[in-house]
Amino acid sequence: MNTSPSTGIGADDTVQHLVRSWLAADADLLWIVPGRNLLLKHPKDIRAVLNDPRYTKETGANRYFRSNVADGVLTAPSPRHHTERRVLHAAVRDPLRLEQVATKHITALIAKWQRHAMLGERVDLTAAMSEWTFGVIAEVLFGWTEIEVLATEMRAAMTVLDASGVMLPPPEQLAPVRDRVLHVIADMIARQPPTERGPALRALCEAGYGQDAVAAQVLTLLLAGHETTATSLAWTWICLMRTPQVYARWQRRMRAAPRLARALTGTITREGLRLYPASWVIGRTASIDTHLGGIDIPAGCTITISPFVTHRHPAFWGPDPEAFRPERHEDKSVPGGAWLPFGVGPRMCLGLGYALTEMDIALSGLGQRFTFHSPDAESASPRWRFTLGAPAMPVGIEPLGARL
Ligand code: HEM
Repeated sequence: MNTSPSTGIGADDTVQHLVRSWLAADADLLWIVPGRNLLLKHPKDIRAVLNDPRYTKETGANRYFRSNVADGVLTAPSPRHHTERRVLHAAVRDPLRLEQVATKHITALIAKWQRHAMLGERVDLTAAMSEWTFGVIAEVLFGWTEIEVLATEMRAAMTVLDASGVMLPPPEQLAPVRDRVLHVIADMIARQPPTERGPALRALCEAGYGQDAVAAQVLTLLLAGHETTATSLAWTWICLMRTPQVYARWQRRMRAAPRLARALTGTITREGLRLYPASWVIGRTASIDTHLGGIDIPAGCTITISPFVTHRHPAFWGPDPEAFRPERHEDKSVPGGAWLPFGVGPRMCLGLGYALTEMDIALSGLGQRFTFHSPDAESASPRWRFTLGAPAMPVGIEPLGARL
C-alpha cells in the first residue's frame, strides 16, 4: 500500500513515532514484526551482520529499486556487485578533481549569495545544497557542465519518489519520469566527445557496458551521491544554526587559523552525520536460518539497521544523544564503532571519501563568508524518505566580509 506523506503508513509523523518507539525500547534486538523483521541497535551486532555474506541486500526495497529505479552497483546482487564496484572504485576517488570542481562551484555560489546578502534576500538552504551537489557530481564523475535539462528531469523523478513518503510509489507512476531521466542521460553520453568524459563515465564505457547499463549506473551514482550529501549538508547547517555558540567558535577558528580549523570542520561534519544520517535505514535479508545474540533468525527474515537509532544509543553517546556536540569526535575513536553513517563491510558507501571532502569544501567555503539565520531551524524535523530529507529552510544571509 502506498500512502501520501501527510496521512497513513508512509506519513512523516507515523514514521517519526515508530522510530521514537525503537529509540525508547531498552532491548538491542527488537522484533518489528515477530519472526519477519528484526531491528538491530547495537553496533557489534550491526557490524557482524553487515560483514556476513549470509545476510544479503535482497530486500523488497532493494529489488524495487533495482527493477524500477536503476539497476546499478547500489542494488546489484553479488557476485555482479563485486565487478561493478571494482569498475567504479578508482573513478569516485579522485580527490584532486573533486577539490578543483567543488571549489569552482562554491566560488560561484559565494558570488551569487553575496548579491542576495546585499539585497537582503533569503535563500532556501536545502534546495541550494541539492542544486550545488548535483552540479558538482555531474561534472566530477561524468564531465557534464550543461545540466539544466537533466536537473529538471531528475527533480521530476525525485518529486514522484518524495510524494509517497517512506513508502515507494507504484512502479507505473515512476516509470515515465525515470525513463525521461534515462533518455536524457543516454543523449548526453551520445553527444559528449569521449575525450571529455569524466572518470566514472570513462570507466564504465571502457569496461564495455552497453548504453542502457551505463545510463543505469550513471543514474545510480547521481541518486546515491547527490541528495545524500545535499541533505547531510542541509542538516549540518541546521545543527549549526541551532547552536550559535558552536557556529561562532568555528567561524572564529577559521578566521584565526583556517588550516587548523579543518579539524573542527571535520568534527562538525561527523556530528551532523551522526544526528541526521542520510541513509537512516539499511536493510538485509537472512539467506538461511541463522542466530544472533541468542535469537533464532529464520531464512527470509529482514534485518533492519538504523544509523539514526544507533547514533543515539545512550551506551555510546551518553545521556544527551540529541545534543549537537562536535567535540564528541575529537579523538576520532567513537566508542564501540557506533558511528556508521556510511554503512560497514563490502557494501559500505563507495562515495565516503567523496562525500566528506565535498562537505568540507561546502562548509568551510560558505562558513568563512556567511552566517545563516532562520527561525525555522529549531523546529525542523526530518522528512522520512528512502533518505532522511531536510525540510525547506529559507535563511537570511549575513556576510562576514571578503575574507575572515
Ligand atoms: C553524506 C553522504 C552519503 C551518505 C550518508 C551515504 C551513505 C551510504 C550508505 C549507508 C551506503 C550503504 C548502504 C547499504 O549497506 O545497504 C551507501 C552505499 C553507496 N553509496 Fe553512499 N552515501 C553518501 C554519499 C555518496 C556519494 C557522494 C556517492 C558517490 C559519489 C555514493 C555512492 C554510493 C554507492 C555507489 C553505494 C553502493 C555501494 C555498494 O553497494 O557497493 N554515496 N552510501
